Amino acid sequence: ISPNLTDKFGRHHTYLRISLTERCNLRCQYCMPSDGVELTPKQKLLSTREIIKLSELFVKEGIQKIRLTGGEPLVRSDLIEIIGALNDLRPHGLENIAMTTNGITLARKLPQLKANGLDSLNISLDTLIPAKFEFITRRKGLDRVMKGIDTAVELGYGPVKVNCVVMRGVNEEEICDFVALTEKKNVDIRFIEYMPFDGNKWNFKKMVSYNDMLDIIKTRWPDIQRIQDRPNDTSKAYKVPGFEGQVGFITSMSEHFCGSCNRLRMTADGNLKVCLFGNSEVSLRDMMRSTDNDTEILDVIGAAVQRKKKQHAGMLDLAKMKNRPMILIGNQQKFD
Ligand code: GTP
Ligand code: 5AD
Ligand code: SF4
Repeated sequence: ISPNLTDKFGRHHTYLRISLTERCNLRCQYCMPSDGVELTPKQKLLSTREIIKLSELFVKEGIQKIRLTGGEPLVRSDLIEIIGALNDLRPHGLENIAMTTNGITLARKLPQLKANGLDSLNISLDTLIPAKFEFITRRKGLDRVMKGIDTAVELGYGPVKVNCVVMRGVNEEEICDFVALTEKKNVDIRFIEYMPFDGNKWNFKKMVSYNDMLDIIKTRWPDIQRIQDRPNDTSKAYKVPGFEGQVGFITSMSEHFCGSCNRLRMTADGNLKVCLFGNSEVSLRDMMRSTDNDTEILDVIGAAVQRKKKQHAGMLDLAKMKNRPMILIGNQQKFD
């Protein structure tokens, strides 16, 4: 791994998340402000060619895993082409091509994505009740997401990770129903602590912590077991003995995992963001459009990685800080 991807705390960054679009076919409350977001004009978004060029640059520096995010990555018409181009980077060291999606149009498109090289899939789903799905996402579509999850399992994506953002008074009483899904399906349900982003009306009381969630699950499955996490996982893994799938907790708020962070992000408008909660960004789009000299671009990447902080500011400070809404991060600021 090149020194450009190693920060001053010795963290090696081998995982790049690329947001392909700011658009989405859902309007999740925790992700998109109720009055929407101002979309970046098309010419300021990364083109297909620019995404492929940047991926190649990063992979040659040592990135081993690329996750495509959004907005909703499936709304981007060149997605299949991008995955195909990433697939061609394997000889340079790319090991895993992943995507995080809301699953709405997944079932239909997945066979071709798989044929082009998509290795792993994370699907967002916060409720199993149709009316609540409509409340949270401001759109219909629960049955389509469930079909997307089942198609992914059938096509051999195992385990399929299902991301569930838990919000007090909204879906906390469904936690056990989600765990029950892991009995017969090879899915890894990951409960995510609700995080603050601009415009998502986060407050401490709406957040259900890791400990609270675990207590709820233990009332029904007291024998749930802590199991080994995979390296650099965002989640703490558990399993109900005898169940096919797993349960996990993404504890960004109550127990951050910044010490083992190996992630960098590209926003759809071409900014490199070295931390999900970092608000200093640098435009690689502008660099790419002004120079053909890759070394200059790599210097800028290296300098940004060097500025990465040891850990995020802590829950209560984060809530006061300026950051992009998640939809504009790639699930994820250009505010200095
Ligand atoms: P894997 O690559 O399968 O480990 O998935 P992931 O958890 O990294 O990615 P996913 O897109 O499924 O994101 C799920 C949740 O993980 C997000 O809602 C965040 O809460 C959390 N997450 C992802 N990346 C970061 C990060 O860099 N920092 C923090 N604090 N949380 C992150
Ligand atoms: N808090 C926690 N998770 C969030 N996500 C989006 N916004 C938030 C938030 N405010 C999740 C999505 C998706 C994942 C990439 O990030 O549900 O699954
Ligand atoms: Fe769309 Fe995902 Fe954001 Fe929901 S969380 S609005 S599905 S990008």
